[in-house]
Amino acid sequence: MGKSSESFERAKRYIPGGVNTSLRSFGYPLTFTRAQGSKIWDADGKEYIDYHCAFGPIILGHSHPTVNKRVFETLETLDIIGAGTTEQEASLAEKICHYIPSAKRVLFCNSGAEATYSALRLARAVTGRNELIKFQGCYHGWHDAVLMNVISDASKIGKKDPLSAGMLQEVVDKTHVVTFNSLEEVEKKVQERKGKIAGIILEPIPHNIGCVLPKQEFLQGLRDLTEREGIVLIFDEVITGFRHNLGGYQKICGITPDITTLGKAIANGYPLAAICGREDFMNRFNTAGGNVFFAGTFNAHPLSTSAALATIEEMEDGSVHEHIFSLGDMMRKGMQELGDKLRLKTYATGFGSIFVTYFMSPPVENYTDLLKNDADTFVKYRRKMIGKGIFMLPMNLKRNHITASHTKQDIQQTLENAERSLTEIANQTR
Ligand SMILES: Cc1ncc(COP(=O)(O)O)c(C=O)c1O
Repeated sequence: MGKSSESFERAKRYIPGGVNTSLRSFGYPLTFTRAQGSKIWDADGKEYIDYHCAFGPIILGHSHPTVNKRVFETLETLDIIGAGTTEQEASLAEKICHYIPSAKRVLFCNSGAEATYSALRLARAVTGRNELIKFQGCYHGWHDAVLMNVISDASKIGKKDPLSAGMLQEVVDKTHVVTFNSLEEVEKKVQERKGKIAGIILEPIPHNIGCVLPKQEFLQGLRDLTEREGIVLIFDEVITGFRHNLGGYQKICGITPDITTLGKAIANGYPLAAICGREDFMNRFNTAGGNVFFAGTFNAHPLSTSAALATIEEMEDGSVHEHIFSLGDMMRKGMQELGDKLRLKTYATGFGSIFVTYFMSPPVENYTDLLKNDADTFVKYRRKMIGKGIFMLPMNLKRNHITASHTKQDIQQTLENAERSLTEIANQTR
């Protein structure tokens, strides 16, 4: 037994399943000991080019020197006080309000789920309504109002598909699940539940199922509908924020939601998330006349806010996005060419630094389309890649991420290994 498996076995003796997030368990007993730039190493010393990137926070590269330097500087002078404010959080709030179009006020917490929880509570508070709309395929965190209908079995489409036992049925009942990119379905649901919907929450690009690109008229239609019906529009930009643009996907599509949630790439791997939006709505939190509760012992931790400031500053001249977008294009083009050359039914897609190869033919407009993806081959391909030192999470529909530390050579090396893996698959299926 190698060191990786030994440590995993030890973890399993004390931690249920050996992991601290359900999706970190994927059938391999891997223990990681080092992460640097575009690479990660397991306890047996095996090196991998990392495209998992911790589900997305790593945008500059692992253990980035500029971020680390800023964190160390803060560490020497300040930990957490838990009263008043800090210079770091004020500076970071200013930056976010500068870049994110919907952000007039912002609050910091530690995880995306905390941010979406507060966004939904705020939507109920400002509307005095209780019901919500979410989309099949979108993930917004582990809490009862949204933990449903992400990667569902075909038999669950159009029905409630809660992801955990122990969820409050009354809460699950209050969330309606509809099809992404179908304005018609959303309009129908809003009419059916007229005056009852507090908020509509969506990932503007559903990346929790790889990459489903939104139709511009769908997003615009949601904006018009929510304005007309007094519903709070929430863009969950926990993945898209900072990764696709400093202003989030809302900056790219030109549609401004009422409330935005941010996380992941905001701090290059340090735990930080945010909720931001309209001044009148956000002032319901914390201010004298406000009545919506917001709290957290570790909120706006100086180490995380320092990391976020350093991360954002590093991206401000545009060169990071230029680099990661161009490597993303190179990867998508290379992968599609390989699939075509080997006459496999593949569809290489993504946006900017995010890429995924589905084993199916396009189009992909919603989750139902993705039921055509050959999940067995998708996972088999990624397992082969892990064996060849390329780390992509071997789970159906999961996306990959490119960071500023990845190089053309990394992409080239990945494509060479992809060719070997896909050839093995092609040979097995013929
Ligand atoms: C779009 C989106 N929203 C919210 C979350 C929850 O974030 P966290 O895991 O930081 O709680 C995630 C996590 O993957 C996410 O992808």
